[in-house]
Amino acid sequence: MEVKAEFLNVTVSRGSGDGVYQEAFQVPAYDNQTVLDVVSWIQQNVDPTLTYRFACRVGMCGSCAMMVNGQPRWTCRTHVKKVSTNQKLKIEPLRNLPVIKDLVADMDPFFGKWVEAEGVHHPTRTRYEPIEQIDPQDAARTTANEGIECINCAVCYAACDTVTNNADYLGPAALQRAWTVYNDVKDADKSAILDAVSGKGGCHSCHSIGSCTHYCPNELNPMQAIAGLKRATSKSFFKKGR
Ligand code: FES
Repeated sequence: MEVKAEFLNVTVSRGSGDGVYQEAFQVPAYDNQTVLDVVSWIQQNVDPTLTYRFACRVGMCGSCAMMVNGQPRWTCRTHVKKVSTNQKLKIEPLRNLPVIKDLVADMDPFFGKWVEAEGVHHPTRTRYEPIEQIDPQDAARTTANEGIECINCAVCYAACDTVTNNADYLGPAALQRAWTVYNDVKDADKSAILDAVSGKGGCHSCHSIGSCTHYCPNELNPMQAIAGLKRATSKSFFKKGR
């Protein structure tokens, strides 16, 4: 890697709760440097106690997401030159989640909402029966396929102003998961999903601002999935009312 004779001025959020403070670092600038490279350089060369998460470094595991200059990003696939302003970077833990320490957000509320949204498989067959064959061209299967590329990075959750203002809101990732399972032709309990996402904090709390879709690093469209849930829950409501 070519080293340039210049530095990045990096501010990193440290600590947690009432003890949060900002610490400044100067980090050598490299060509093709990612934000995760910057955080790792600080941890390896200046302060080994800097706490952050990563695993795959190739955009697969979803563990490295942070706020970068105020915007949620997967840091292993975000090049510094695309997001820095005047060689400055501000790196913080993901918004809308409690902070454990430094750049590590507590993901429990995020995954708890997946369970609340009933984004779990309800099997049509037992393990002793043959696996059901599904036509890959089936329309529902195609819709379900769109959502399964979610890597659970919580970038959409951090981007969502409705999550910020409504603690009960299930959020775009959990609702997209629910929509994926709802469209899975092998799922046996669609009504459990619709019940889970139609209540307080469910899909009808979404204001369709679209930050989830704008920031999703995998170019998924949670806003469209939530719109699908809004239609399905409304249809179900009027059907029951007849
Ligand atoms: S480290 Fe796995 S997605 Fe970034």
